[in-house]
Amino acid sequence: MNIKFTSKHKPADTHFIFFFKQKEEFQLLSSSPDLFSLFSHINKTEDSLDGFRFYPDGKGKTAERIIFLELKPVKGNWNETFRRAGNALAKAGRSLSHLSASADFSNLTQLDAKPEASWFASFAEGFVLGSYQYTTYKKDENKKKKLRELIILCNELSGKTVNAAIEESVAISFSQIFARELVNAPGNELTPAELASRASKSAKEFEYKCTVLNKKQIKDLKMGGLLAVNKGSVNEPVFIILEHKPKGVKGKPVVLVGKGITFDTGGISIKPSAGMGDMKGDMGGAAAVIGTMEAIARINLPVHVIGLVPSTDNMPSGSAQCPGDIITSMAGITIEVDNTDAEGRLILCDALEYAKRYKPEVIIDLATLTGACVVALGDKAAGLMTTDDELSQTLILAGTKTYERVWPLPLFDEYAPQIKSDVADVKNVGGRYAGAITAGKFLQKFVDADQSWAHIDIAGPAFLDSQDQYLSKGGSGFGVRLLTDYLRTKVK
Ligand code: BES
Ligand code: MN
Ligand code: ZN
Repeated sequence: MNIKFTSKHKPADTHFIFFFKQKEEFQLLSSSPDLFSLFSHINKTEDSLDGFRFYPDGKGKTAERIIFLELKPVKGNWNETFRRAGNALAKAGRSLSHLSASADFSNLTQLDAKPEASWFASFAEGFVLGSYQYTTYKKDENKKKKLRELIILCNELSGKTVNAAIEESVAISFSQIFARELVNAPGNELTPAELASRASKSAKEFEYKCTVLNKKQIKDLKMGGLLAVNKGSVNEPVFIILEHKPKGVKGKPVVLVGKGITFDTGGISIKPSAGMGDMKGDMGGAAAVIGTMEAIARINLPVHVIGLVPSTDNMPSGSAQCPGDIITSMAGITIEVDNTDAEGRLILCDALEYAKRYKPEVIIDLATLTGACVVALGDKAAGLMTTDDELSQTLILAGTKTYERVWPLPLFDEYAPQIKSDVADVKNVGGRYAGAITAGKFLQKFVDADQSWAHIDIAGPAFLDSQDQYLSKGGSGFGVRLLTDYLRTKVK
């Protein structure tokens, strides 16, 4: 995909003109000579929409088609407004089989805000994300022509600034699509080894470090949680370690941890079959972390970041762990496994223990951890659990900007008794009440009290039942733009 910004009109197959906020305004526009004259390069030849002729070079060459899109303002958020507009263009482009389009923003004057470079970046973002379809196994879809080139026109802003902003947001969007591809890949394709190999391929291409620990190394580290969840599987577990450290960047790193369950059957505490297929997306946290590592490497963000991904599937079999089992985590904390379907926290606790060796400034874990979080927040926001108020504020703000929104849930100490065990240090489930929070409380046991840490439960927004604007059905890649935006605040 090629997306460029220019202040000069360039011919393209399709032209997109975007200038009205409401249907009534459009009607006004098409009937009023005053408003119409704002667009001097458009000649009205007939009364119908198709009658508009657009001369991109100001002379005789006409565009084959003009698309009009309604601009639907999202309250107080111009970036999201433009992301959605970019998506609308992507969707219109699907039925066109045209290869290029240009979007003319030369006359944004009717909007009651001054155009900013980030609007164009958001527009490009919405276009790239909205163009994505998961077609790996759809033979016919792969042959279709696609809108691949977008030229954005505006003469009010400096091309350099806008182009840089667009380039970054396009790079981040591609990484988000990479994350979606990981989530959408079915469990029979994306085994833990395959997840590791894709991370390693990305690391090679975009020049960050990737180390993959195998089962023997995981055993040597005594990662009892990851090994227990893996017991029922024929696929070996992996522990993926990613590192982005640009030259000259000093100080403590930020550690990102992502849940990498490539398929969650529930194990012996098996899930009901309806909807179980969605559990191919139980590595949404891993995808967010790997996608973010790729994104920050692509834009060469000057921050030291480590990504940790424990990965296995969760299968029932004769060798699987059973309810009642007591296991010992890497931290030495013993865990009563009351329900084998609460497996995410068992692999995350070992990763949180491993994170300690980096003496991190901040640890953020992302996980499709609980159905309870989906009940609480649906798929429009992820649950944010942290005791660090400043980190909370920064993440909420990054969420508003990127529209990958997070919403706080409390980690009050009074929830802790729910995960008390009669036979071990802690139990892996906390009963029916406050399921998202008791999962957070479980993880908190594996983090030092003075460590800045946030847990983000993305079970809702990571995997969608239906398309939502520029988010496609299935894997959303949630977390890539959120984390990248957060990490930008860490640039010193
Ligand atoms: N992967 C699931 C959580 C999940 C549910 C993610 C729905 C996405 C959509 C997790 O491993 C799980 O099964 N959690 C259990 C925990 C329970 C046994 C305490 C749940 O939420 O039911
Ligand atoms: Mn589970
Ligand atoms: Zn799970």
